Amino acid sequence: MSANGDGDRTNPGRGDVPFEPRLALASLSGQSDAAWARAASEYAGCAFLGGIALDEPTREAARELVDRDRDEFLPADPVAFIDQQLSALADAPLRAAFNVRASGPEPVAEAAAVCADHGAIVEINAHCRQDEMCAAGAGESLLRDPDRLAAYVRAAAETGATVSVKVRTELAGVDLPAVAARLDDAGANLLHVDAMDSEAVVADVVDATDAFVVANNGVRDRATVREYLDYGADAVSLGRPSDDPRVLRRVRRAVDEWFDGAEKQRSERAPNAEPGGSNA
Ligand SMILES: Cc1cc2nc3c(=O)[nH]c(=O)nc-3n(C[C@H](O)[C@H](O)[C@H](O)COP(=O)(O)O)c2cc1C
Repeated sequence: MSANGDGDRTNPGRGDVPFEPRLALASLSGQSDAAWARAASEYAGCAFLGGIALDEPTREAARELVDRDRDEFLPADPVAFIDQQLSALADAPLRAAFNVRASGPEPVAEAAAVCADHGAIVEINAHCRQDEMCAAGAGESLLRDPDRLAAYVRAAAETGATVSVKVRTELAGVDLPAVAARLDDAGANLLHVDAMDSEAVVADVVDATDAFVVANNGVRDRATVREYLDYGADAVSLGRPSDDPRVLRRVRRAVDEWFDGAEKQRSERAPNAEPGGSNA
């Protein structure tokens, strides 16, 4: 597929690379806007802006989170905000993505259509754990209702957008690899896995799907990058240190080292082979 996703309406599957270098910046609500992405764009291949609450139930939840001192984006018109933030990144040297929360598939489709127009990835948030967001039918509550989450994915994919789903491990009663397989079937192109303290689950998700798997949580240095890539992740992301150039530089160097090494091994095995982006 094309690196900016323009006009590509098929699930890329493993082997197709939605962004390079394979280091992404993960959403920090209330902070992850276009300026945040641009500030780290020399290091990352992709930036997940947001998350943003799209409809009244999730916006009400976001207001309650603000009352509890959490940072949230609460623009008057969330879809216009997405459009404006993505426009501000039109000439940035990374692929933009937007992490969205909604109580149903329709607002997700509306946001996805805007992302598609910008060649950006729409990321469905099945990750936030705050009670208010879960009660609104968004965040990790979606992992307990894979039928509903799959409907969000289908609605987003039908717009032509490249679709990511942000998920987390360690949710009691949730078989994450099985959910991941459902999402893959529904049209998810990327699975962004917050591995928490269960890093090995990344390997189970990789085995269960053809989606491009972005591993997240605690990516800080060569050892943590290698651990996730060894489990078969296609890329890594980092959130909290996304404003720390020392960490960004170190992680980027480790990502380059890994993929340059893999590329070198491939070309040594097959000197006449086309250079490819896949680590499959
Ligand atoms: C203050 C804060 C806000 C966050 N907001 C979001 C969000 O809106 N959407 C989301 O999917 N993840 C959100 N996350 C999770 C991060 O994207 C990331 O998954 C998590 O911090 C683990 O990665 P790290 O160890 O690199 O920080 C947030 C995390 C923090 C600390």
